[in-house]
Amino acid sequence: MDKIIIRGGKSLSGRIPISGAKNSALTLLPCALLTDEPLTLRNLPRLADVDSFGHLLNQLGVSTMIEGARPEDFGRVMTLRAGRVTATVAPYDIVRKMRASILVLGPLLARAGEATVSLPGGCAIGNRPIDLHLKALEALGAEIEITAGYVTARAPKGGLPGGDFGFPVVSVGATENALMAAVLAKGTSTLRNAAREPEIVDLCNLLVAMGAHIEGIGQSTLVIHGKDRLHGATYRVMADRIEAGSYACAAAITGSPLDLIGAKLDEMEATVAALRQAGVQVDEIADGIAVRPNGTLNAVTLSTAPFPGFATDMQAQFMAMLCMAQGASVLTETIFENRYMHVPELNRMGAHIEVKGRTAVVHGVNRMVGAPVMATDLRASMSLIIAGLAAEGETEVSRIYHLDRGYERLEEKLQAVGADIERVGGD
Ligand code: UD1
Repeated sequence: MDKIIIRGGKSLSGRIPISGAKNSALTLLPCALLTDEPLTLRNLPRLADVDSFGHLLNQLGVSTMIEGARPEDFGRVMTLRAGRVTATVAPYDIVRKMRASILVLGPLLARAGEATVSLPGGCAIGNRPIDLHLKALEALGAEIEITAGYVTARAPKGGLPGGDFGFPVVSVGATENALMAAVLAKGTSTLRNAAREPEIVDLCNLLVAMGAHIEGIGQSTLVIHGKDRLHGATYRVMADRIEAGSYACAAAITGSPLDLIGAKLDEMEATVAALRQAGVQVDEIADGIAVRPNGTLNAVTLSTAPFPGFATDMQAQFMAMLCMAQGASVLTETIFENRYMHVPELNRMGAHIEVKGRTAVVHGVNRMVGAPVMATDLRASMSLIIAGLAAEGETEVSRIYHLDRGYERLEEKLQAVGADIERVGGD
C-alpha cells in the first residue's frame, strides 16, 4: 500500500486550487436517478468515492461518461443518464466500502417505486445509524422493511404521496434522501429541522435546475412541491469547504501565506471565525480566500455543531493545528461519538492532548517530531498530514487510501506550494 512521506518544517507559499466538494458530489450524483434525461456535473473531484458512486449507479442502469479530462486537470465533467432504471438494489459489497451509497435510497424509491440498500453498519467514527433516513421516507409515504441486513423502501401504487417530517436530530444524509424522494412525490412535503449545510443548498440548487419546486432553501424548514417529472441539467459542483479549511490549517501551523483558489468565505464562516480567533488573518480575495498567519497561534475553544456551527469534518485538522498554539485549547465533539482516533497518533508526534469523554484538551507545544503514523478515517488522516508539515524530521503516513477518498491529489497540491511531500509505493 502507498504511503506519504513528509519532511516537515518547510515554509509554504502560493496558491492551492480547491476541488469540487466530495460531500456535494456524493449527493448530486444520485440525482441522475431522478430523470431519464442526461445530467451533466462539472467540477466533480477526482476521488475514489466519486468513482465508487459512479460504479454503483452503473449497476442501477445509469450510464456515465467522462468528458475530455486531461491528466493534468483537477476535476472533471461527467454526464450521467438513467434512461431506464434496470436494478433497484445497492449491494453490501459497495455500501460497506462507501456509506454514502445510502443516498440512492430516496431517488430510487421516487423514480422506481422501490429501493433496496444494504444496511451500512457502523464505521470508525461512530455507530452512524440510518433510522432518520427511514423515518423521513416513511413520513413521505414509503413502507419500510428490514430483512437480512438489507432495507427495502416501497412507495404505494401511483407513487409517494409526500408528507411532513421533523428531524429530532439534524442529519445531512437523511435530509438529502428525504429531499430527493420528495421532489417526485404526488403532493407537498415539509421537512423541519432539516440540515442547512452548503452541500444541502447545492443539492437543492441542482434539483431546482432539474425542475423541482423547493421553498426555504438554506433554511431549516424546506417545503417541497412534488413534480410528475424532472428534466436534465448541467450543474457545477460547489468548492470543497472542508478541503479549503484543511489547507488553511496547513497554512496556519506552518506560518505560511496560502491563497485557496475557488474557496468561498460565506460557506466556511465558522472555520474562518475559528482561524481568526487563533490569530490567523483570513481575507476574501477576488478568486478565493487568502490565509495569512502571523507566526504565533492562540489557543481556542471550539465545539462541533451542525451548520452554521463548526463542522465536525474540520475538528481533526484544527486539533492538529492547535497542537502548536500557545496555551490550552478545548475541543468538544458533539456529532460523532468516536472521532478522536487521531489523538494517539498526534501525541506520538510530540503533541500533548488529553481526551475526557467528548472533550479534548490540547496543550500547545513548541515542537513536534515526525514519526510513522496511520489513521482510521479521512479527516484524521489529514490531521496527520497537517502535523507532519510542521513537525521536525520525517513523518510517514500509511493507510492513505482514506486520503484518496476525499483529497484530490493532495501531495501534488502541497508540492506546488513548496512542501517536501511525496507518495511512495509500500510493500
Ligand atoms: C455527512 C457527511 C460527513 C459529515 C456529517 C456531519 C457526507 C457524505 N458525509 O454524513 O462528512 O461528517 O454529515 O456533518 O455528506 N444520525 C442518526 N440517525 C440517522 C442519521 C444520522 O442518529 O439516521 C446521527 C449520526 O449518528 C450523527 C448525526 O446524526 O451523530 C449527524 O449525522 P449525519 O448528518 O447524518 O451525517 P452523514 O450524513 O452520515
